Amino acid sequence: MTTLRELYLTHVGKIADKWTLFLDVYERIFARFRDKPLALVEVGVANGGSLELWARYFAAATVVIGCDVDPKCGSLRFEDRRIGVVVGAVNSAPAYKEITDKAPTFDLFIDDGSHTSRDIVLSFLNYFPRLKPGGLYVIEDLHCSYLAGFGGGIDRPDSSMAFLKTLADFVNRPYWERDKPPATLLAPVFGANHAVDPALFSSIFAIAFYDSLCVIEKRSAEDQPGLGDRVMVGNEASVFPKALALQAEENARKA
Ligand SMILES: C[S@@+](CC[C@H](N)C(=O)[O-])C[C@H]1O[C@@H](n2cnc3c(N)ncnc32)[C@H](O)[C@@H]1O
Repeated sequence: MTTLRELYLTHVGKIADKWTLFLDVYERIFARFRDKPLALVEVGVANGGSLELWARYFAAATVVIGCDVDPKCGSLRFEDRRIGVVVGAVNSAPAYKEITDKAPTFDLFIDDGSHTSRDIVLSFLNYFPRLKPGGLYVIEDLHCSYLAGFGGGIDRPDSSMAFLKTLADFVNRPYWERDKPPATLLAPVFGANHAVDPALFSSIFAIAFYDSLCVIEKRSAEDQPGLGDRVMVGNEASVFPKALALQAEENARKA
């Protein structure tokens, strides 16, 4: 089967614009979706090439929707009828309605839009609830999170990266030793009187950071919350003998 990189490098027509690292990561994380009848949304269409590539890579996709604030994107024409473009700012009410009318829920969401911290965070709050269980929410070009011109900065508590790092704490929510109300953890990002419901983050199964890229996976029906059983196998414990007692305890608990 042709790899994404092969498809990408032999692409002709509408320009697509991705970093090499992203193509390599996508090859790994998107492989399991490749022959699924999925719905994909990408924020940021520009010349339209990436939408064409997604439609070719995900040959069984039922719908590939792009959203761009640039009205010129409305004139783009695609031979592949599965591709649609919504013109508007992704977090405006009309664009949200149009996107979710075309794809009420989706398997893959790629944020390659304005790259401002504000838009990245708002888009996550708006669209992550629409991601299907087991789906992936991807944010590109997060180097912008460190740039003042994009509302970012290494010390800014409301940058997109500061927000995303907080999500990593929500993945480990059961282990916060202090009885800290979850909403207060979001105060540095959204302000003390914010109305963001932290319950939104309880369905995050995993969050992975790469150079300038973040991938958030929504828990699927098969992924139970928590660590599951402790699994201790083997019968030699010369370095840490207590392991035998712990193993016996664990086995008794399961019996
Ligand atoms: C980096 S380009 C997209 C490139 C394209 N995804 C690709 O891979 O070839 C970013 C695009 O985001 C669009 N954009 C900027 N702010 C936006 C917003 N608030 N909503 C939707 N699109 C936006 C810009 O008009 C621009 O075309």
